[in-house]
Amino acid sequence: MPPAVVTNTDLCSRLDTTQEWIESRTGIRERRTVSNGVATVDLAVEAGVRALKSAGMFAVDAVVLATTSPDRTCPAGAPEVASRLGLGNVAAFDLTSACSGFVYGLATCAGLIATGVAESVLFIGAEAFSTFVNPADRTTAPIFGDGAGAVVLRRGDGDEPGAIGPFDLGSDGRHADLLAVFGGGSRQRAANGLGHADVPAEDWYLSMSGRAVYQHAVARMTASARTVLDRAGWSATDVDRFAGHQANLRIITSVAQQLCIPHDRVLANIDRTGNALAASIPILLAETAASGELSAGQRVLVTAFGAGLSWGSTVLEWPDITADSLI
Ligand code: COA
Repeated sequence: MPPAVVTNTDLCSRLDTTQEWIESRTGIRERRTVSNGVATVDLAVEAGVRALKSAGMFAVDAVVLATTSPDRTCPAGAPEVASRLGLGNVAAFDLTSACSGFVYGLATCAGLIATGVAESVLFIGAEAFSTFVNPADRTTAPIFGDGAGAVVLRRGDGDEPGAIGPFDLGSDGRHADLLAVFGGGSRQRAANGLGHADVPAEDWYLSMSGRAVYQHAVARMTASARTVLDRAGWSATDVDRFAGHQANLRIITSVAQQLCIPHDRVLANIDRTGNALAASIPILLAETAASGELSAGQRVLVTAFGAGLSWGSTVLEWPDITADSLI
């Protein structure tokens, strides 16, 4: 994660809000944001270096970058990440699925391996999403943070620890406008040689209908988790660790309660990370694996939800691997 910490006290000095409001409604005490000149690919490279080192790998067959805050609309950032990591001319592409990006990306990488396209994949979730958040908007500025997390996936046996799956993935595009950056895409072009007059200032930033998103998040994450547990033949009592997307502590707690997963099995670091979109879950896994809160042999349920709307879940038995975390 980038070094610059933005505390709730910092936010209170420039927004009409209170520390109590932010912490009680979201569980967030601080978040990290990139400094000027630092972008998503820079964070992705740092996470990639650490993941490759932890895995003891110097080469992979593909690099996949999940991000919704790309350095540029075109091209994708993954080829630059691959080059900067010295990985050569490997397959490299970005995947955009907002806060579900890590689960969608795991499924995509598993597919690359299953189809024989790759034997190993470096998969990174990286976000500098603070650059898409209006610093003057009290409804979004407290929530989002920047960071990156990465994993190395390789071909293996379906019954060995670390094997990922089954999956549940879903979407509901009828609610696309609940969480959106409206400007800058093909619908509201940034400029046609005429400046930015067509895009209202607020449309450069994220717009969020917080309460509706909250309700969809709890319902979809709970249903998706139930589906994947069913597919895996697990019951809630089989889940040793619940790694839910860190959107809001109340969302995570509510989903865990509905699934009957005890509080001490729920992993959370949102108090220090905020919502880091596709980077949220890998940062959580890396931090808790490095601290020992997540350990080899534990059965992990991973569930995410985000803009789109989109959601997804998977399960795995945590393998005996080294994890490196820098929070
Ligand atoms: N400080 C103080 N008051 C604030 C505030 C802030 N930072 N942000 C909003 N408010 C106010 C609102 O203006 C509203 O005031 P009103 O009742 O006078 O209109 C009031 O607080 C309640 O707003 P509401 O949006 O209904 O609050 P909430 O309890 O739903 O909490 C969120 C707001 C954003 C914390 C919550 O909706 C949420 O977490 N939603 C999901 C967001 C999310 O996870 N997004 C990413 C999904 S991956």
